[in-house]
Amino acid sequence: MENSIRSIMEYLCETLAFEKITFSKCRDNHILRASVTPFARRGEAYIQIETFTDDGKALHRNLTAKEAAEVLCEMAERQYKQTNVRTQNGDCEIRFSKKEQCSILNRIKTTAAPTPQTLTAHNKKKQYLLDPATDDGARAFLFHLGITDEGGRILDKKRPKYRQINRFLELVDDIYGTLPGDGTIVIYDLCCGKSYLTFAVYHYFTAIKGRTVKMHGVDLKPDVIAYCNETASALGMMSLSFSCGDINAYEPPAGEIPDLVLSLHACDIATDIVLKNAVRFGAKAVLSTPCCHHEVFHAMNSEPLAFINRHSMLSQKLADAATDALRCLWLEMHDYDVQTMELIDPEETPKNMMIRALKRKKARSSAEKEALQVQYDAACTLIGCVPYLGRENK
Ligand SMILES: C[S@@+](CC[C@H](N)C(=O)[O-])C[C@H]1O[C@@H](n2cnc3c(N)ncnc32)[C@H](O)[C@@H]1O
Repeated sequence: MENSIRSIMEYLCETLAFEKITFSKCRDNHILRASVTPFARRGEAYIQIETFTDDGKALHRNLTAKEAAEVLCEMAERQYKQTNVRTQNGDCEIRFSKKEQCSILNRIKTTAAPTPQTLTAHNKKKQYLLDPATDDGARAFLFHLGITDEGGRILDKKRPKYRQINRFLELVDDIYGTLPGDGTIVIYDLCCGKSYLTFAVYHYFTAIKGRTVKMHGVDLKPDVIAYCNETASALGMMSLSFSCGDINAYEPPAGEIPDLVLSLHACDIATDIVLKNAVRFGAKAVLSTPCCHHEVFHAMNSEPLAFINRHSMLSQKLADAATDALRCLWLEMHDYDVQTMELIDPEETPKNMMIRALKRKKARSSAEKEALQVQYDAACTLIGCVPYLGRENK
């Protein structure tokens, strides 16, 4: 394969030897990114392009593999400044600099026979980013955390956790192209707990993506933090550290701006504190899955919504939705583009919603911010309370 955008895209579409292509840094500011995956329909190979726009929509386009080569070539050459390809035989990155210089880092081994996806109609065997059968590093920490046995077999009762971690990594993978392309990636995991996620994300950036990272986890529990520090050093994860403390009081080292702030299931308003900190630290990206929602549920006081609130279960659902929607609005007021998505099958956990926030390059105008604030205030009036972040804002 020649090292040109056209040859790479033609090779990928002919062989279907890719797991995912992610396009980011679109020249059109209204488009956040696009991801491309192969699939089969009635025995024929297709390529799906999913484009995410800044109004929270995802547009889908299905093309035959033949049609796709031209479209993908156009996307990589003209529409997006960064393209990341993941295949089973190595990765490829295409980037355009500020001066529109194109660089191609192609690590796809075409000497190896291409490994096309085994395509079925969206029920193809799940390819996990962490595969203890083929990845020694993943095997080591999954065993250490009690997710696999010594031979790398996922323990039955740990399968949901394993799926959750992999899904989280897919969501990290989706925004990889929006993070700085070189230098050290700084990541905080706030309310890290036993840190399954932290170890997995560290492994993703260092071993799978070959990046240098500086990662730090914070949690209230001293025993858990001692365990996490011991585990990091036993696994040789040298730039991963943990500290014990209240995230409310956490201060990053002077001058450090996190590229990514993560949080999985931080309880109740701890999620709000995570979001407040992420904004205060100037984080470029935030991935946060809220946990239980008590604050708004107990504080809601609304005559117009009394017809819902008199049913405790429905009132809880309303409080959950209102809390998270107001969190999204608050992040938008602070110059983030925000989307919500499912983390994993809702049957596995009801705490299943992911807030993804990416810091905008250009701040919103004061008129836009005022309009968001008006929406925020109107929503608070409707539910009859002002949640944590709204009170912080005043
Ligand atoms: C449900 S656990 C989730 C742990 C981990 N992220 C996971 O998904 O496995 C919530 C964690 O948040 C921590 N936590 C809650 N409030 C906190 C705060 N204000 N500061 C630091 N940690 C906090 C708790 O100690 C607990 O370990």
